[in-house]
Amino acid sequence: MIVVKSRSGKPLRVEGFRIRIFEKLSLPPISERLKAIREAGWNTFLLKADSVFLDMLTDSGVNAMSDRQLAAMITAQDAYAGGRSFYELASVVEELMGFKYVIPVHQGRAAEHLISKVFVREGSVVPMNYHFTTTKAHIELAGGEILEIPIKEALDRRSRHPFKGDIDIAKLEEAFREFKGRIPFVRVEAVANLLGGQPVSMANIRGVRELCDKHSVPLVIDASMIDWNVYFIKEREPGYGSKSLRDILGEFLSHADIVYMSSRKAPSVRGGLIATNSREFYEKLVVHLPVYEGFLTYGGMSVKEIAAMAVGLTEMVDESLIGSELELINYVVEELDRKGVPVVLPPGGLGVHLDSLEFLPHIPRASYPAGSLASALYLVSGIRSMERGALSMDRDKYGREIYPDLELVRIAFPRRTYLRSHADYLIDRVLWLYEHREHVKGLRWLYEPPILRFFLGRLEDMGGWGENLAEVYRRELGEY
Ligand SMILES: Cc1ncc(COP(=O)(O)O)c(C=O)c1O
Repeated sequence: MIVVKSRSGKPLRVEGFRIRIFEKLSLPPISERLKAIREAGWNTFLLKADSVFLDMLTDSGVNAMSDRQLAAMITAQDAYAGGRSFYELASVVEELMGFKYVIPVHQGRAAEHLISKVFVREGSVVPMNYHFTTTKAHIELAGGEILEIPIKEALDRRSRHPFKGDIDIAKLEEAFREFKGRIPFVRVEAVANLLGGQPVSMANIRGVRELCDKHSVPLVIDASMIDWNVYFIKEREPGYGSKSLRDILGEFLSHADIVYMSSRKAPSVRGGLIATNSREFYEKLVVHLPVYEGFLTYGGMSVKEIAAMAVGLTEMVDESLIGSELELINYVVEELDRKGVPVVLPPGGLGVHLDSLEFLPHIPRASYPAGSLASALYLVSGIRSMERGALSMDRDKYGREIYPDLELVRIAFPRRTYLRSHADYLIDRVLWLYEHREHVKGLRWLYEPPILRFFLGRLEDMGGWGENLAEVYRRELGEY
């Protein structure tokens, strides 16, 4: 955002870009929405994009790209091996992020696969601020387990702690004692996705680094949403307000031994990378690249995406381009909070997060309130959000449900994609749903996959509540 002083003396934030390509959207009537969500097995992942009005499932791979990124895609050098575009990416990673070695991979989970394969063994324990679905799956598939040690405020949706992504340093110290010799690395996710898009402070990453040094354990940073993390440090952390985003990024990442990212997020392309300054780590990781991803200089990605990634990385610390979606998230969260809707506070990155346990207190956890809420929101608005609760966890090895600390519905704001009127429409429909929440009931399985079940699982609305909710909606608001 470009920040100037307004007439009243308050800061005035203005988007430092304009829109030159747009995509037409259509809003299907509620009868079609009911049919679509039924056909999707009450799983928003399985909706066809053509049935969706505002696609707020994720920011991943759907951010608006810049004219400079599109231009770079045309001039990318299409070579199987040794393509210029890769070396351009490597030099940006070195200059901007401070790492000599870079390994391209096809997306974030591919980085997690390689890192888990190299570092995690049977009995390993990986402490982290919080898990992400694919991270947990890869660590467990490699025989390890995760240990989540966020600060206590992170699990209190009402807490306005500015850095709810922070690790609890005392618990980390305790973990080093308890699991001595079993910790292959500590992982910090900056912005913590499943905590409601909450950032990690510079003070915290510094503290984690000190402990990792003391115990000679590497620190791995998941930098998929580092752009927002850096922005929040500048906005919220004392001493950083006058520093550039670029300098803050450099300082934050200087604490990592290995950094990886889903480049579908902050750099607004489709791909991923791992970077490090350790020759030893690089060599251990890179041998697996040709087996699972592709050759050294493309790693399973199109070279066009590699070229666009180099530009996207520099744009993610361009002060005038970053933050417009954060302003919208802030607006929606504060507005819903004022009206008494249970949202995760303070407004963070990634999206607006509804607390489904408070929103739908009459639905037992075994009937998946967050899944019901995401489906109901689609039904009454055409807005696609994502369940981030019990459905997004898999069962334990005994087949028992694992109920996560937070049972959220995430309404994502991809970068530079939606406008203020979309935010107003979202607020209106969430408020309508909140006022009619007694009509929403639970879900039960029709087909439950054994792993990452939220992607492909199919459910049904218990007692056919969808039809009833659609009927009430139609009576009050009409077909649209
Ligand atoms: C924090 C974080 N890490 C890893 C991933 C996995 O990345 P990908 O979807 O590119 O495989 C994601 C995806 O959303 C994420 O948010």
